[in-house]
Amino acid sequence: MNTDQDKTAAAQPFEIFLVAAPGLESVLCAEARERGFANPTAVKGGVTVTGGWPEVWRANLELRGATRVLARIASFRALHLAQLDKRARRVPWAEILRADVPVRVEASCKASRIYHAGAAAQRIERAIAEELGAPIVKAAPKPTGKKPAKDMEAEAEDTRAVQIKARIDDDLCTISVDSSGESLHKRGHKEAVNKAPMRETLAALFLRQCGYDGREPVVDPMCGSGTFVIEAAEIAAGLKPGRSRHFAFEQLANFDPALWQSLRAGGTPTAPTVRFYGSDRDAGAIAMSRANAERAGVSAWTEFTHHAISDLTPPEGPPGLVIVNPPYGARIGEGKSLIPLYHAMGQTLKARFAGWRVGIITNEAALAKATELPFGEDGVSVSNGGIRVTLYQTGVLG
Ligand SMILES: C[S@@+](CC[C@H](N)C(=O)[O-])C[C@H]1O[C@@H](n2cnc3c(N)ncnc32)[C@H](O)[C@@H]1O
Repeated sequence: MNTDQDKTAAAQPFEIFLVAAPGLESVLCAEARERGFANPTAVKGGVTVTGGWPEVWRANLELRGATRVLARIASFRALHLAQLDKRARRVPWAEILRADVPVRVEASCKASRIYHAGAAAQRIERAIAEELGAPIVKAAPKPTGKKPAKDMEAEAEDTRAVQIKARIDDDLCTISVDSSGESLHKRGHKEAVNKAPMRETLAALFLRQCGYDGREPVVDPMCGSGTFVIEAAEIAAGLKPGRSRHFAFEQLANFDPALWQSLRAGGTPTAPTVRFYGSDRDAGAIAMSRANAERAGVSAWTEFTHHAISDLTPPEGPPGLVIVNPPYGARIGEGKSLIPLYHAMGQTLKARFAGWRVGIITNEAALAKATELPFGEDGVSVSNGGIRVTLYQTGVLG
């Protein structure tokens, strides 16, 4: 049984790790600071903040750029497996996990005397089972490589599972609960996607890098499934990115549904005063974007039209931001055939979009160069679903 002292200790703020796309940690750090999280610090692979469980829930609900949110529940030195076994039992598992919810423990070891990740995971599983007073319901192992249909079924069933991550680095074991479950780029209101969609979390960070704060109109002339346009409209309307989905923390023992409901309901969305425009030469993409905007509840402020970039003209009203990720040259050298398309896009934007800023996300510097747009310094290269992409930004076009 836990003493009152233990309970007080559990209520103390702990470290919360916000996973970021490597290269964009400082952009996520700025978002966390703006949203009022305590002590935001950019580190390799993410951002640390401090808080309690309500802050963990709020991070999942409100942060647009985080890929997932890990609650760091314990940290101790472990020089050998017996010590790991003993110290893992001191974690107040029963306050965090439910005996009826499947658990998956994943361990990794680096530069440590404990080098067998499987044995480490097994010790932690045993500690959890003993603390919960019941054998843990083990989640199916994560499918690896090409997924056969059977694995995909297992994975679908497994969305209820809670994942515990143990990282043993330089003999220091850090135990975290993955409070998000499915990656946070899945906002929960997008069903239709095209071949190379931009992840919502990355789209939000690129918009932020372009200085987008929700007050300007946004145009994406190759909008695909509408990611940039929908993200921009949500930012402008003050809609919370996690409003339509479920999270792993809802399966934890310390989940408080009433407090969660009040967090979700807090803040009033406001109708934006500007509009958000997407176009694409593919009619299917336009149908997809409209359906996605409808499900996200932003269709009143978005307009999607079917035409090629050569027919693009600026919308009426104030200038704003053009943000676009044109087709990539997926294999080395393939990009060459795309040079005329990028060149034509650059000419259209230079000729018709005076007063606007432009952000282009692409995977080859030569393609960005072909636009002949006046880009500032190159951004960092970031992985979007396996393809490394970079944001190229202009100032206000003359
Ligand atoms: C990489 S995808 C964009 C993905 C999009 N950002 C999303 O999140 O779904 C590139 C898009 O450019 C469109 N496209 C290619 N050439 C075009 C052209 N000449 N005019 C307009 N759209 C074009 C394709 O139909 C495709 O939807």
